[in-house]
Amino acid sequence: MQQVKAVVARAKGAPVEVTTINVPDPGPGEAVVQVQACGVCHTDLHYREGGINDEFPFLLGHEAAGIVESVGEGVTTVAPGDFVVLNWRAVCGDCRACNRGEPQYCFNTHNATQKMTLAEGDDAGTELSPALGIGAFAEKTLVAAGQCTKVDPEARPAAVGLLGCGVMAGLGAAINTGETTRGKSAAVIGCGGVGMAAIAGAALSGASPVIAVDIDAKKLEKAPGFGATHTIDSSKVDPVEEIKRICAEVYPGAEGADVVIEAVGRPETWKQAFYARDLAGTVVLVGVPTPDMKVPDLPLIDVFGRGGSLKSSWYGDCLPSRDFPMLTDLYTSGRLDLDAFVSEEIGIDDIEAAFEKMHQGEVLRSVVMF
Ligand code: APR
Ligand code: ZN
Ligand code: ZN
Repeated sequence: MQQVKAVVARAKGAPVEVTTINVPDPGPGEAVVQVQACGVCHTDLHYREGGINDEFPFLLGHEAAGIVESVGEGVTTVAPGDFVVLNWRAVCGDCRACNRGEPQYCFNTHNATQKMTLAEGDDAGTELSPALGIGAFAEKTLVAAGQCTKVDPEARPAAVGLLGCGVMAGLGAAINTGETTRGKSAAVIGCGGVGMAAIAGAALSGASPVIAVDIDAKKLEKAPGFGATHTIDSSKVDPVEEIKRICAEVYPGAEGADVVIEAVGRPETWKQAFYARDLAGTVVLVGVPTPDMKVPDLPLIDVFGRGGSLKSSWYGDCLPSRDFPMLTDLYTSGRLDLDAFVSEEIGIDDIEAAFEKMHQGEVLRSVVMF
């Protein structure tokens, strides 16, 4: 057991606190990781606001990279000293999805079984709920060994840590779920961190044109830097008509984009995606809707008549053991600019300010450095 500094959300809606927590030594199948960098994600704020569940106190943070400090019994996949990116889906290897060869849909993902606890205050000893089973706004955290993926130790922690959540979600929505490739067109609606990563993924895979859509001109200015060939301000023009026009210019006869990625998480933008896809095109929903949102009321004939597929992409359909090392290598070899997603490196005391900036749309990612 050791004590480290960490960021905890003690009660619903209250500002986060920097406090001391107890981190147990790793048990069987577990690892303690010395966190080097952890991105600030919407989900952390969502936990703090009680929007996910009410299992306070939460140990926030889940987009992280660091060094394995120690491992428990039976751990063979990582060893002390390894540089790892953390993931929130350690797969079981033996459920129906895993046996079907699709572990990205594993039903039995797991986390560390031992609990980290509060070490300070009247409630010292209270078990912490780590955000997405990680809890990496901490100098050290306890995770399942399967949540650690070894990557090139030369990579910058602040950049590759982002592969642990939002950036992976966007890259994977394009490459894995949407299967963007050369000869296909792609459009991305919503250019936050997730949408920009989808743009980068589409461009990396050779898709062209890559059309960026947003209502915020500041976001659109940045989109070409991530690989967008065209931008559409959907607060000014109809994005469906514009996507159709651009695609028909490049591929005569096209009636929309081959792959349209919705990275906002709202019915009206999903509907735009639905109508902006070419015949037999693919719509990928990667933005996370709220539970009260409904599929827009659409004529069933439009679903039938246009063919293609309507998909959702959860965590970019990623397989960490396949995707994290590959994407890290693309980064270190200069073909994927993960640095562009790091808007600022901040300290452990600056997380509330980072939530505010995220809310204002001022940053793609603030990354806490340890
Ligand atoms: N049309 C187009 N773009 C829109 C619209 C709209 N109607 N409404 C919002 N946007 C844009 C915003 O301007 C912003 O650039 O969508 C983007 C959303 O970006 P972020 O808030 O930074 O969110 P991000 O981290 O990219 O996540 C996107 O995926 O992980 C989920 O919860 C997350 O649902 C969110 C989505
Ligand atoms: Zn499984
Ligand atoms: Zn996240």
